[in-house]
Amino acid sequence: MKNVIAGNWKSNKLMAEALRLMKEIESGLTSEISAEVIIAPPAPYLSAFASEAKGVLQIASQQCSATGSGAFTGEFTAAMLGSCGVKWVIIGHSERREGYGETDNVIRKKLRAALDSGLQVLLCCGEPLEVRESETHFDWVQNQLMHALSGLSNSALESIVIAYEPIWAIGTGKTASAGQAQEMHAFIRNWLSICFDRSTARGCRIIYGGSCKPSNADDLFAQPDVNGGLIGGASLNAADFIAIVTALENR
Ligand code: 13P
Repeated sequence: MKNVIAGNWKSNKLMAEALRLMKEIESGLTSEISAEVIIAPPAPYLSAFASEAKGVLQIASQQCSATGSGAFTGEFTAAMLGSCGVKWVIIGHSERREGYGETDNVIRKKLRAALDSGLQVLLCCGEPLEVRESETHFDWVQNQLMHALSGLSNSALESIVIAYEPIWAIGTGKTASAGQAQEMHAFIRNWLSICFDRSTARGCRIIYGGSCKPSNADDLFAQPDVNGGLIGGASLNAADFIAIVTALENR
């Protein structure tokens, strides 16, 4: 199973500096890297990035529409992304759930639209602080995943990477401890083995996101059920992102 590391650039960087960042990252990565390395730049740059990307870097969109083509002003479909050379899409990020009204139902539709168009998916889940404090975080995450994944075939799961991103750790500098990440990842994998089967669960990549940086990447990636990371702030700095990729390679 290949590890996965993805940089989610969110709404940051204008075109020229974004391209510069991609080139810096590319030049710091050798072709021997065994992990899948993905960057998700802002949507307006996707087509250019997909043509410019060389070597190991793969390009992700930060979202896609829940519909096919038609009269949906401002939306872009999964098939359009694929036609531009984009290979991945992030679905269910907490910033879209919380800020743009993406319900579990919408996320379920987006996931299916992406899979139907042949995209691979980084599917995000994760609990807010009050849920963690009330110790119902396992139920919360299970519920999110059940809505998104129920009814899918075992083989569909091969196109999905699950990203556990506790909301209280995103952009706060407060990382989940390696133990907290491992505990949730093991829970997710066990749940997958019940809903799908053991070999499907074992083969599913489960990555961690939330204030992951060079200083804590070693600890997080040393956990047996942490198969990589979804990196926000630290992916906007080439040296930091490369250091995190290196930590994953050396796990
Ligand atoms: P930070 O790494 O900035 O906490 O963001 C994580 C994230 O939301 C990645 O999708």
